[in-house]
Amino acid sequence: MKKYVKVTVQDVDDYLEKYFVLVCSLRNSRKKAKKLAIVEVLCCLLPLKASFIVNGPLGDVKGLISFFVLKEYKDLLPSYLKNLGYCNRFYELDFENPELESTSDIHSINTLIWKKRKFSIQPFYKQSEEVYIKQSPHNRHFRIIGYDNEVKDVYGYRGDGSEKGRRALPVEDARCLVNLALPSKINTMIDPFAGGGGIIYQAKYINENIEVFSIDIDKSIEPGLVLYGSKHYVANSADINLDTHVFDAVITEVPFTPDALDDICNTLKNFDSYLSPHGRVVIMLSKQQVEVIKKCIKELNWYTVLSSLVNRRGMPVVVKVCVKSPKIYEQAKEIIKVIKGIY
Ligand SMILES: C[S@@+](CC[C@H](N)C(=O)[O-])C[C@H]1O[C@@H](n2cnc3c(N)ncnc32)[C@H](O)[C@@H]1O
Repeated sequence: MKKYVKVTVQDVDDYLEKYFVLVCSLRNSRKKAKKLAIVEVLCCLLPLKASFIVNGPLGDVKGLISFFVLKEYKDLLPSYLKNLGYCNRFYELDFENPELESTSDIHSINTLIWKKRKFSIQPFYKQSEEVYIKQSPHNRHFRIIGYDNEVKDVYGYRGDGSEKGRRALPVEDARCLVNLALPSKINTMIDPFAGGGGIIYQAKYINENIEVFSIDIDKSIEPGLVLYGSKHYVANSADINLDTHVFDAVITEVPFTPDALDDICNTLKNFDSYLSPHGRVVIMLSKQQVEVIKKCIKELNWYTVLSSLVNRRGMPVVVKVCVKSPKIYEQAKEIIKVIKGIY
């Protein structure tokens, strides 16, 4: 099946025979980032071949997106849904028992009918709030080298207090960035501005088989990144020589300060040679950095598959996904065009 479908009254029964309708609810903090959430779900559920329903049910309820998933994959779903960043609650539409009381917290003002088929809404899976809290930068276990040169165990490490050294990427963003890099497909990834390791931690949480690498110019955070299972380098990413290394993905949240722009562009240029031909680059940058980075990406002849604005608690940031391969870009074009039209 295609990555998206538009359902009609005529073909709805054919779909419902093979697929079940999974409704995903966006976290309150990312309710407005619907387009990004759709792409994230499609990337995360790639092995299960989920398909986005463009004209899905419950259109009057904010922050919901729906997908078809083959019925035989239903039991496998929770092990994927736990990894999502932007959606955290999931529901199943029951078309066989429409008279059942809908026991979910979704409240539609409309009668529960989609394409002339009645349904009820049943909770399917809810992410653990406990896991989210434990993984958040305010609580996560980390290791740093203290001023006395001793390695210290710390909890809730959020940076060294400097503008450049801010390190508190929310769990939802770290997971989303990793998912956009297709964690079920890649063998290796690197974060060249690793900081407190939000992305590295989530890459290992999402797929422990990914070989993760990281770089940061600040030596004090090396033990923390090693603790998270990374092969870590203390270096400047703009000029580090990684010999024959090849990565399937570069995933990073860049330093947002304006004086970091040269280093960011030079890092992207440096990593062009370490990125595999089917490789992906997933970056989160500040809105002010977009124009310069866009120019740099153009010079590298990379293709931008996605560029999406996210409001991070009043801070506008942009998530970009780029690929090297024209073939991969062509394959992604159709679904990206469809998602651009979603409101
Ligand atoms: C925005 S923080 C990354 C935060 C990280 N995503 C997290 O979850 O904690 C940016 C990091 O880039 C590092 N950095 C800045 N310039 C660098 C450079 N040229 N090479 C390598 N690391 C650099 C800083 O030390 C900082 O830790």
